[in-house]
Amino acid sequence: MAESGSSRCFHLRQYRIKLTNKRSRVEHFPRVTLVLLCDLAPTSSVAIQTHNLRRLLHTVEALSELGPALTAEREFSETSRLMLSAIMEAAGAREGVLLLFNDKPAMLTSASAQGFALMPDPAFIPLLPKHVHALTAARGPIVLNSSTYSVFLSSNGNVAPELFKCLAPLKAGGRLAGVVALGRRPGDALYEDSELDALELLCSYIALAVQNHALTQTIAQRVSENLRLMASLHGFYDNALEAFATAIDVKHVNIHGHSLRVGRYAAAIGEAMGMESSDVAALRSAGYLHDIGKVAVDRRLFGKPGALNPEEIREMADHTTVGHQIVSSVQFPWPRIPEAVRWHHERSDGSGYPDKLGQDDVPLSVRIVGVADSFDAMTSARPYRAPLSVGSALSDLVRLAPDKFDPNVVQGLLIQVRRDAVGSNRTPFLDSMQVNIAATDIDQLAATLQYKVSRGRMYLTKESGH
Ligand SMILES: [Fe+2]
Repeated sequence: MAESGSSRCFHLRQYRIKLTNKRSRVEHFPRVTLVLLCDLAPTSSVAIQTHNLRRLLHTVEALSELGPALTAEREFSETSRLMLSAIMEAAGAREGVLLLFNDKPAMLTSASAQGFALMPDPAFIPLLPKHVHALTAARGPIVLNSSTYSVFLSSNGNVAPELFKCLAPLKAGGRLAGVVALGRRPGDALYEDSELDALELLCSYIALAVQNHALTQTIAQRVSENLRLMASLHGFYDNALEAFATAIDVKHVNIHGHSLRVGRYAAAIGEAMGMESSDVAALRSAGYLHDIGKVAVDRRLFGKPGALNPEEIREMADHTTVGHQIVSSVQFPWPRIPEAVRWHHERSDGSGYPDKLGQDDVPLSVRIVGVADSFDAMTSARPYRAPLSVGSALSDLVRLAPDKFDPNVVQGLLIQVRRDAVGSNRTPFLDSMQVNIAATDIDQLAATLQYKVSRGRMYLTKESGH
């Protein structure tokens, strides 16, 4: 191929083709198109040759325009409109419709239509297996006449197949993806070979775009169906676990609502710490169930006004291991629930129970449930003491971090209470409780916590230098 002056000349086989318009698009012409140009060049009359070449120039022009259009990020309705315009111009059609094929049930549905005086939107044409077979088997566009309509189309839809003069099946990978149906041409001219060649060339590209759209739709549909199922499954679990949480706390008036609040607090702390929504859901469930072992504890102990004796303390502490036994045999969608049930009373310095684990041995989600549990216990009334205020409970937790509680988790709790204090939480974190602490005081507690942690880190660095 060679370039000449302001136009471009292509030498291919024994022909020399000169393209003088829209030179910037010449670079996009695919070789297959140029070969087709050469095949059509030696026609018998100059007039037909000029007509054919003009038609093919329209086609390659349409192709060069369609390339970017098909790959651009835009609504499929807009892409359909562009594709149909390109086809109609290349095939010299006055009326046209782009129909998408759906195989269950077998049906053609319009994605874009132009020029028809009466075309429903959407137009649909149900297909019988014989129609699908004929459209899939067709080699290229088909000119329709009164005896061939029924081979390819049924008349059971909301559009009469007699409107169409020419059909071009869109096939990708040997499967039917759609159909381009063209109506009348200007002056009711017939569709000649040159129009059909142009149509065939364009349709092989458009079939890919249509197929791509169908695949995207299928994937999007499957993803949304799966998400819906997962959401309903999670909703089911949430409801079941909420019912459990309520049943656990029914033991005594002193602990009513405790498990539900711990679930809510744990989830909110996880959220403040930037956890994924699935981890937040797992925290909520772990919080709901953390005290499930209390179903085996004598209800009298919950209302005892004085301190528990050693025997009673042991029975109360056993709710962790008993609960662990209960939930270990259950397959939850979240893996940390048995650990949260067993270890939510473990403390960072190993002073907790039942296994006396240090902070590094207890997973973060369990440490979060531990802080949520302690915060709710502190701010709830007990037979032997009045509830602590939110401010006092937070001060205690900061005082006890990092020895007993993970400072990052306490920081997450401070973030949520601060959101309540400044009114930026959409759903209040503390629900019915009074936020009797100012945002500036919470900031002070956060700074204290930060100082305690960084001081510890500096000390460790100095130690490790020896
Ligand atoms: Fe507990």
